[in-house]
Amino acid sequence: MSKGKFYITTPIYYPSSNLHIGHTYCTVATDVMARYKRMQGYEVMFLTGTDEHGLKIEEKAKQAGVTPQAFVDEVVAGIKELWKLMNISYDRFLRTTDDYHVSSIQKIFKAMYEKGDIYKGSYKGLYCTPCESFWTESQLVDGKCPDCGREVRYAEEEAYFFRASKYASRVRELLKSGDFLEPASRVNEMINNFIDCEGGLQDLCVSRTTFKWGVPVDFDPGHVVYVWLDALFNYTTALGFLNDRYDDYDKFWPADVHFVGKEIVRFHSIYWPAFLMSMDMPLPKKVYGHGWLLLDGGKMSKSKGNVVDPVVLAKRYGVDALRYFLLREFPFGSDGSFSNEALITRINSDLANDLGNLVSRTTAMTEKYFDGLVPSERESGPEDEELTAMARALRDRFEEQMEKYAFQQALQEIFKVISRANKYIDETAPWALAKDESKRARLGGVLYDLLETIRVCVCLLEPFMPDSCALFRAQLGGEGFSWDAAAVWGLLGAGVRVRKGENVFPRIDVKKELAELESASAPAKDEKAGEEKTGLITIDEFRRVDLRVALVESCEAVAGSDKLLCLRLDLGGEKRQVVSGIASWYRPEELIGKKLLMVYNLAPAKIRGVESSGMILAAEADGRAKVIFAGDDIPAGSRLS
Ligand code: MSP
Repeated sequence: MSKGKFYITTPIYYPSSNLHIGHTYCTVATDVMARYKRMQGYEVMFLTGTDEHGLKIEEKAKQAGVTPQAFVDEVVAGIKELWKLMNISYDRFLRTTDDYHVSSIQKIFKAMYEKGDIYKGSYKGLYCTPCESFWTESQLVDGKCPDCGREVRYAEEEAYFFRASKYASRVRELLKSGDFLEPASRVNEMINNFIDCEGGLQDLCVSRTTFKWGVPVDFDPGHVVYVWLDALFNYTTALGFLNDRYDDYDKFWPADVHFVGKEIVRFHSIYWPAFLMSMDMPLPKKVYGHGWLLLDGGKMSKSKGNVVDPVVLAKRYGVDALRYFLLREFPFGSDGSFSNEALITRINSDLANDLGNLVSRTTAMTEKYFDGLVPSERESGPEDEELTAMARALRDRFEEQMEKYAFQQALQEIFKVISRANKYIDETAPWALAKDESKRARLGGVLYDLLETIRVCVCLLEPFMPDSCALFRAQLGGEGFSWDAAAVWGLLGAGVRVRKGENVFPRIDVKKELAELESASAPAKDEKAGEEKTGLITIDEFRRVDLRVALVESCEAVAGSDKLLCLRLDLGGEKRQVVSGIASWYRPEELIGKKLLMVYNLAPAKIRGVESSGMILAAEADGRAKVIFAGDDIPAGSRLS
């Protein structure tokens, strides 16, 4: 029976490039919470997604020579792959470019305008392009954007404003009362810096005219909705608010908790509630602002290039080991320093040594002394009391921490019991008991307590390490693993078959592994340094781009577009289809039969719904694109170097 509903969200990520370990951290934490609540019997809605509009994406797409939609489609596909790899059990994935979301946002904007909470004015101020935020002089830190530390520039534009000032006192009350924003340490920072600051809570500029890639304000063409208004309402449009794509808004809203990184707490704890107040909608129950994973003392950032790739780590050390490390190593509410050494050390000490050893020693001894059957004859002894008391109390202690989103402490509780169990093996010395036939019942009792302890721990570890726990469960006969079972001692039935399976967490050779990681990343670092100084790339980087000669077999305009041509190419037998934005300068018949140059290994994308696998090379000259043609004597398919 359902215990009720639980709605949890991650922030929606900018698909401006691939995500790194910092983003993975937040999504893994949300996944663990969602799995934990499901295990407890809640009906869970776990939402994640992508925040796809804005100037930054528009510019990135331009640099890449593709449409913004094609650009985000490709990055989003990679993000979904990453979540699949990381075993993320989201229930819904919202993209802000989804039609239903776009039309809901237009309705919301209009409703707020009609209410008088959005009004037209003009904005003059200091603007941070990457954050898409206006700042006042006093909000800057060392003259730079207080959120990301980058340069700001003076900007002026006609814009719509949200009357945030009208809701300032209600938001202050919300922040002060109860536990809306956690950790509590973030509350005063928000009130002092943004509400009770000089000038009070400023009205927020909620439309832009300087770029097009956004949700159009339908009653005032030329304006697009500010990305944050567009993005924040995702938490409700994904449930069907003002659209008929979904219909569980009444069931799941308000959210139980939004997990967000600390730099976006301001948007979630001030503007988000104010927007909802304006719409007379219920407020989320909680916003939890987690800390950052730092690298070399600074924030990982895609634009700084100092990122850690979760795919590399997950493939090298295992998805579960990485998931475990992220939540065990860093207190969720504070910043933490990421390092490869910390990762490997943690895997070795907790997973290979403590947990892995406990399971393999216990299952091996059950196989050796009891033919792999849970012992039926069991005698207790003086060593049992402490271990069994700890294991019996574990579920409650674990729950207490999980309810506070204290993942690190929750795992600590489990690992205290695991350590105690390893000590228990040393104290009871089952190998010595096995030598004395008269102690067989005591040996049975010892192994039973160990098996039960493992069972309880595996029940609770499941949200953190789902795949590994499935293996452990199978090793222990498969029955008695649930939230309810975690609170019961003595569930394993006599005669259940136990197997010593494969080693789930093999020990990692720290020195060797660090040296390998170091040499794998060292050239990359040097290249990065070179690139920053000179703008140059290395020969290896250039070699990654596969350029080929292609013969145009056929070519036609893409329906509904006056810019795009669809070319079918022959590469010496292999056929390719490429969509190119050259229709303004070339008629299809001018290209058919010609040989041109293309990027062969560009990830495929859909442009205006048409599959495109590659990119045609053209030069920009005399204000137009000029395709680079290859001489007739070069066979189609030849590779350039
Ligand atoms: N699109 C907005 C969120 C809109 S939510 C309505 C955004 N996107 S983001 O891609 O830049 O960041 C998404 C989340 O990733 C943020 O919560 C951010 O804190 C988190 N992280 C990005 N780098 C991080 C670390 N190095 N460490 C931990 N989390 C970090 O903001």
